[in-house]
Amino acid sequence: MELCIIGSGYVGLVTGACFAEVGHSVICVDNDQRKVDMLQAGKIPIYEPGLEELVMRNVAANRLRFTNSIQEGVDGSQVIFIAVPTPPQPDGSVDMTFIERVAREIASALKPGQYRVVVDKSTVPVKTGERVAATIQRYNKEASFDVVSNPEFLREGCAVPDLMKPDRIVIGCGSERATDLMKRVYEPFMAPILVTDINSAELIKHAANSFLSLKISYINAVSAICEASGADVEMVADGIGMDRRIGRQFLNAGLGYGGSCFPKDVKAFIAIAEEIGVPFGLLKEVERINESQLERFLRKMRDGLWVLKDKKIAVWGLTFKPDTDDVRNSVPIELINRLVNEGASVTAYDPKGMEKAREWNLIPDSVKLSATPLEAIDGAEALVIATEWKDFANQNLNDVRKRMHTPLVFDGRNLFDPQTMKDLGFIYYGVGRAAAK
Ligand code: UGA
Repeated sequence: MELCIIGSGYVGLVTGACFAEVGHSVICVDNDQRKVDMLQAGKIPIYEPGLEELVMRNVAANRLRFTNSIQEGVDGSQVIFIAVPTPPQPDGSVDMTFIERVAREIASALKPGQYRVVVDKSTVPVKTGERVAATIQRYNKEASFDVVSNPEFLREGCAVPDLMKPDRIVIGCGSERATDLMKRVYEPFMAPILVTDINSAELIKHAANSFLSLKISYINAVSAICEASGADVEMVADGIGMDRRIGRQFLNAGLGYGGSCFPKDVKAFIAIAEEIGVPFGLLKEVERINESQLERFLRKMRDGLWVLKDKKIAVWGLTFKPDTDDVRNSVPIELINRLVNEGASVTAYDPKGMEKAREWNLIPDSVKLSATPLEAIDGAEALVIATEWKDFANQNLNDVRKRMHTPLVFDGRNLFDPQTMKDLGFIYYGVGRAAAK
């Protein structure tokens, strides 16, 4: 099929590349000319495992191309996906400026008698589909189209496999014609398809992300009880996770959730519920627990080091999770800023996130960035594990200990085993487990 994706960010670009990979002919539109130029020159603006090969292969096969013209995309495609940002506003509600503008632009590009399916893939508040349809109608009375909500569930760092083998495809739609076309788009993925009305599809996305955030906050709250009672949160998570009704995934205690989805979507869901008159207090508690997790970790560091001022602290990890270069809303970045504010001297290392952290001024100039994980810990009085990159788990821990001035490890992701660390001569603090000294 001929498909157009408007917006070449994480969701748009990976979706476009995967659609091309299964044989569709895809045109990706972005209004950032610099990004379009980069993509046309074969450069990928983000790091996502497997994405570069996928883009290269499909560009070479003439199934994937890039443009800045919505008109070109709309003219040549049966189905038009909207995948533009829906950033948060200061009060937590969603800024719909980009979606609204794209809806108007699609309206002006639609020609009479030319039927199109307009699909919203961005994460949007319930009832957005109705507004998109009304906007297109208002700006183009002749337009023949249907609006579909088709939320995306890919995770950064494993976006390509998530998209190629999804747990489910949600198609929110009120028209049989559009539903049939959408089913054809997704047929090659051989995934279960759930057809719903538009409002339900929109709610599914916010409800899913909020539920996953709730799972993380739940285990983080349990981790505080474990610390206070001498239990080990990893064992507790294994024990409850073996119940298939609960499942072990997203029960990893740590520094709290970050990134450009969970914090924003929980806030948005709270605001949406408030607006329609059904306040969602449970989610406010999810947020509160998430924020307190970093505070508890900092308290632990103060316990171990007594005073943070002038301490030489190495931090492994800048990105909000492993296998990505994304440093937006990253808890590790917030942690580093807090440490610097308390007067610590911080050296950091991350396999992929250093360039963007510097370029976007997310960390103070005083933070030194190292070329390797071992270089970062030279003479350090403490090491913090802030992101669970495999690279960190594979380091030779004897070398790590020898290079450090004092062998304190604060493991914000429970990457290491406390007893092993103790046997190697470390003083080890994890999350939700007793310190091993
Ligand atoms: C999340 C959802 O998992 C995707 O399904 C969704 O499509 C996406 O948001 C989105 O709305 O676009 P993502 O933010 O890329 O994906 O990453 P996750 O793997 O979900 O991690 C989010 C945060 O939770 C990270 O900071 C991670 O460290 C944290 N986390 C995750 C934990 O602290 N513990 C866990 O057990 C799992």
